[in-house]
Amino acid sequence: MADRQTLLKILDLARWAPSGDNTQPWRFEIVSDTHIAIHGHDTRDWCVYDFRGHASHIAHGALLETLRIAASGVGLRSSWRLRDGTDDHAPIYDVTLAPADQAEADPMLPYIVSRTVQRRRMKTRPLTAAQKLALERAVGDRFTLQFFEPLASRRRVARLLWDSAYLRLTCREAFEVHRRVIEWGARFSDDKIPEQAVGVDAATAKLMRWVMRSWERVVFFNKYLAGTIAPRVQLDVLPALGCAAHVLMKPVGAPSGFIDYVHAGVAMQRLWLAASASGLHLQPEMTPVIFRWYARNSAPISSDQRINVASERLAQEFEALCGDSPDAPYAFFCRVGVAPAPTSRSRRLTLETLLRSV
Ligand SMILES: Cc1cc2nc3c(=O)[nH]c(=O)nc-3n(C[C@H](O)[C@H](O)[C@H](O)COP(=O)(O)O)c2cc1C
Repeated sequence: MADRQTLLKILDLARWAPSGDNTQPWRFEIVSDTHIAIHGHDTRDWCVYDFRGHASHIAHGALLETLRIAASGVGLRSSWRLRDGTDDHAPIYDVTLAPADQAEADPMLPYIVSRTVQRRRMKTRPLTAAQKLALERAVGDRFTLQFFEPLASRRRVARLLWDSAYLRLTCREAFEVHRRVIEWGARFSDDKIPEQAVGVDAATAKLMRWVMRSWERVVFFNKYLAGTIAPRVQLDVLPALGCAAHVLMKPVGAPSGFIDYVHAGVAMQRLWLAASASGLHLQPEMTPVIFRWYARNSAPISSDQRINVASERLAQEFEALCGDSPDAPYAFFCRVGVAPAPTSRSRRLTLETLLRSV
């Protein structure tokens, strides 16, 4: 039906799906002309942000949706199901391809590669009604969107991110992750975040690189030199104020298993692509969501008890901002706005690397 070249073309596009810290927690296997297996994994053993593997599960969903859109470009319809007997640590998704009923490609196809995270300030020009509608339609009826648009709301989000960033920058477990996922001195990176896409100015990046060589330096710097101020202002407060809106994606029903996070990833990718198609850039702001997942599951983030206590306060602050109760499920949080395309971005592992030998 589809020759191997066609399947390679689909996978070559699908690999541009986003993943937390560009970890790309997937490998590909071409089983037959009509069957691709996606071998998922997660990073919870080293990445504090991958709470119970859910950030990776969201990325799996983004990949599966991107694959579906890519297949539509060559006249194929793809559908996936979780392979029986596989679990949340190493889920295998069996993707079946068949000729599409209509020959039209998904309208999101042109944005698969150009969609990218923008961590710098965006314009504050308000979203148009058409842009908001496009974002709402993109996530489907299993998710709702809450928008934080006026300056007063963006200020409250800035405060939440300021508090969240304090946890992020003073938590040893998070430091180990940051050290591993930033490619210093780089404009592009195949499997990390390049320094220039982090969103700080060159002087702060240089300082961060020096400080992050050891945890002892971080502690000293934070304690005596107010080391968290510059990164929090540049990475959290200014971008939080400098955007059109923050957008919280909430599942209509509480997640009952990891597959619900995969579905959240499908919706997240549609949201992100719809933003790109509407001339908007987007940056995920997942740390307050993830810290709240810990707090609401009574799970410790850190061996430092102060961080765990602070995560409970942060969860309450987030809920007060959204007008929600502690059991309200949150799946994805981001900011959007018009901005120039970033000059630095993450690239991807090669298709050869991602193709699993069988
Ligand atoms: C589940 C998930 C969580 C993410 N969380 C954040 C985040 O909190 N902050 C951020 O700046 N980027 C975040 N990202 C963006 C990734 O770092 C980014 O997509 C990845 O490095 C690939 O870069 P690209 O999107 O430019 O292709 C997240 C992405 C995903 C899929």
